Amino acid sequence: MKAHLLIFSLFVTLESAVSAQDVNDSIDHKVQALLAQMTLEEKVGQMTQIDFSVVSVVNGEEAEAPIEQGKLYDALLNHHVGSILNTPTTPNNQVQPIEKWRKMTQAIREATAQTRLKIPVIYGIDAIHGANYTENAVLFPQAINMAATFNTDLSFKEGEITAREVKASGQDWNFSPVMDIGRQPLWPRLWETYGEDVHLAIALGSAYINGHQGDDFAAADKAPTCLKHFVGYSYPLNGKDRTPAWIGERMLREYFLPTFAAGVKAGSPTVMINSAEVDGIPGHANYQYLTTILRGEMGFKGFTVSDWADIERLYSRDKMAASPREAVKIAVMAGIDMSMVPFDYSFYDLLLDLVKTGEVPVARIDEAVSRILRVKYQSGLFERTEPTLAVAGNFSTKEANAINRQAAQESIVLAKNDNHILPLKKHTSVLVTGPTANLLSVMNGGWTLTWQGASEHLYPQDKLTLFKAIQKKTKGKVTHVGGNAFADEINVEQAVSEARNHDVVVLAIGEKTYTETPGNIDTLNLDQNQLNLAKALLATGKPLILVTLGGRPRIITEIAESAQAVVLGFLPGMEGGQALADILFGDVNPSGKLPISYPRNTNDIVMYDHKPIEAFEFNQYQPLYGFGHGLSYTTFETNGLALSKDKIVLGENINVSVNVKNTGGLTGKEAVLVYLNDVAASVTRPVKQLKAFKKVELQPGQQQTLQFTLTPEDLSFIGIDMKRVVEPGEFKVMVGNETVHFHVVKN
Ligand code: GLC
Repeated sequence: MKAHLLIFSLFVTLESAVSAQDVNDSIDHKVQALLAQMTLEEKVGQMTQIDFSVVSVVNGEEAEAPIEQGKLYDALLNHHVGSILNTPTTPNNQVQPIEKWRKMTQAIREATAQTRLKIPVIYGIDAIHGANYTENAVLFPQAINMAATFNTDLSFKEGEITAREVKASGQDWNFSPVMDIGRQPLWPRLWETYGEDVHLAIALGSAYINGHQGDDFAAADKAPTCLKHFVGYSYPLNGKDRTPAWIGERMLREYFLPTFAAGVKAGSPTVMINSAEVDGIPGHANYQYLTTILRGEMGFKGFTVSDWADIERLYSRDKMAASPREAVKIAVMAGIDMSMVPFDYSFYDLLLDLVKTGEVPVARIDEAVSRILRVKYQSGLFERTEPTLAVAGNFSTKEANAINRQAAQESIVLAKNDNHILPLKKHTSVLVTGPTANLLSVMNGGWTLTWQGASEHLYPQDKLTLFKAIQKKTKGKVTHVGGNAFADEINVEQAVSEARNHDVVVLAIGEKTYTETPGNIDTLNLDQNQLNLAKALLATGKPLILVTLGGRPRIITEIAESAQAVVLGFLPGMEGGQALADILFGDVNPSGKLPISYPRNTNDIVMYDHKPIEAFEFNQYQPLYGFGHGLSYTTFETNGLALSKDKIVLGENINVSVNVKNTGGLTGKEAVLVYLNDVAASVTRPVKQLKAFKKVELQPGQQQTLQFTLTPEDLSFIGIDMKRVVEPGEFKVMVGNETVHFHVVKN
């Protein structure tokens, strides 16, 4: 019987491999056949992406039918545009009803049918934590929070739900996930990353892509993703967005390329390019990155798209190109396939001219257009005649919102809980105050309903702020002091006097929403009026529970040390208020762990996977809260850490097992993190690096044995010659407070 099963499964595997190959061959055939029919103008048009505003009526955000037909026909018939992005208002963008989205995108599909070759437009949108620009979409915790869940299953589900709601809106292509690594806490897009660790970012990002694309992203409820921003955008030396990063090749290969390589391996068919520069070369001009590495080393077959106006900026900002025309030539020859122009047809006109003068070979155009057409075929766009998904049953479902609430709950980090002040009893009387206590925007961040996410009046009224969620949760008296706080100062005297009339104070602090350059700051220090409010409340002697919200770790040391409890919420999304109240009152046992090192001081930025020299003599890794830190209302212990061998030959795997036990009195979830240290190598090695993790739920007293496998890839590093290598020698595996050793030998 077994033999038959084996033969059958081999047949199925072979058949599916053959069929996948068949599909690709047939797509390649279609691409070449279509390309052969295209004029040069039609080809260059496919490489042109414009913002919706180019085809919009004035005030498109208010108009029932925001497309101006004449402008749309000009885009499609005269300029053969291949892609459109964003919403009816730019640059701030604005959320639209799903019916309007479906009509808009259908109008574009119908207009495309009037063109000579009927090549479909691919509609791109930033749906980075759900379908941000469609009303009532399920808006998840931002990436930094998803990383804090250490739950790849939740990331997969976020991808699934996002793709479904993007497609139900009639949109085609999601500019997500961000695969930049988050190692510069000042950077205003840190929260769009999965944090400072490569392994964690790869695990979460790959799961998201798999959920979003499934086995076939032409499916009605799947959609293509976009890896961004290739590469090194997230590490500006001075922390300000779109400023120079100085990343040597070894650091690039060790920390910045692996997440993109993983995204390519996960099958993402598009890559958006770094707006800034690395080592003096703008991302949009870097042939080595865009072609030698992305294509040659990673084998990426999809297409690259520029970021916003970044080709023209090679001339206007970076002063690399002597003219806009030269900028187009530099970018296209470096490896940019599609230009997010976005406001005009300059790219189209200039590239046409460059090809006609022979400065850009037709072969390069054909290469870029083939890649674009291939993704359009893979996305099923040629077969699509209308929004592929009905709204009912596919949009903002009860199940999807429940998954979102679970993600928010698992993304919140309980960093401190002195004297078990938390969870609060349901009759506790609470003063709720602070600038982030009564706003939804501060829990969602940028790319929410509008580009900056700051339009509180657009937020759905059925979602609860922290204050309203606490009010709903407890039978005790709840008083809020602070109004819509960022708009006005909080009356400290009033807050202090109210504190005296309540059992505890919940003080919600943090940041307004922001993204990209508007979110630049000059210090991680929290602003003084928030610190003053905290100190005044602490002086009352009432137990104070500090809740932080925002995209970056602002310096809270002096008040965190006096607070009884500290809850790090970051950006938990539309269910964030409910999730925080669930945790504060014990309906949920917190399980989030920090995906970044939370600094003690604004200039004390050291990562957990630091080098030995960073913790030598006077140098120390001394964050306020370390990477992987997160408390629970129960306690867990790991024990029995063991390896399958104490010596392996180069190229072999090694198996790790460890027990994890719930040693407390409450059911809880725990992510068990497996770290590795290569004790001595020809390139200095981090003191520890996360190489595996698993999250389990255990009843009180329950124990589970977890198994992990470390591969040669896990043991490898970028050697002297810039190649990935495993060197013989001693290694340490660390889990919890246990360490075991093994050796790698040549043979
Ligand atoms: C922005 C961002 C990028 C986004 C794009 C389209 O400048 O850098 O992440 O996808 O423009 O909105």
